[in-house]
Amino acid sequence: MREHGVLKRILLVYREGLRRLAARENLPPESIANAAGIVRQFIENYHEKLEEDHLFPRFRKANRLTELIDTLQTQHQAGRGLTDITLQLATAAAMSDTAQRDRLAQALNQFIRMYEPHEAREDTILFPAIRDVVSPRQYEDLGERFEDQEHELFGASGFETVVARAAEIERSLGIYDLRQFTPPM
Ligand SMILES: [Fe+2]
Ligand SMILES: [Fe+2]
Repeated sequence: MREHGVLKRILLVYREGLRRLAARENLPPESIANAAGIVRQFIENYHEKLEEDHLFPRFRKANRLTELIDTLQTQHQAGRGLTDITLQLATAAAMSDTAQRDRLAQALNQFIRMYEPHEAREDTILFPAIRDVVSPRQYEDLGERFEDQEHELFGASGFETVVARAAEIERSLGIYDLRQFTPPM
């Protein structure tokens, strides 16, 4: 699912936020607030909701990967709690207070720590197993329903708009140019 790519770009933003907080470098609060806003609208309220409404129940019904499903579901809940904290503390006032800045850094850290293995497990274990619990016909229907839902919530070019918003945040933090991540050769 391409939503995971958006999540990865948010994790990059969060990691740069953490780096700046630790180095006491300037971190515009809105970069973190906007990134957390994408997490709330696009990842939690859309992507995770699809997983919870359409994928997890099918695995449970087929009695497949149930322990993994329980963990993923619990992590969605934990993630929402971390996003609450992030949205609350990504303000100039909170970030000028040491205790609140530390709490924000902790939330960003916990979010990255959880979601990297979370989405990797979904990509390598959960998603490849979808075809075991749905028929080819149902699989196609699911894909269409996901796409319809995306268009309904975010408009016809909703995905592109969300990606453009993530790119804008990256640009504002100087982490957009991909070449900076190539090691010297
Ligand atoms: Fe998930
Ligand atoms: Fe996911």
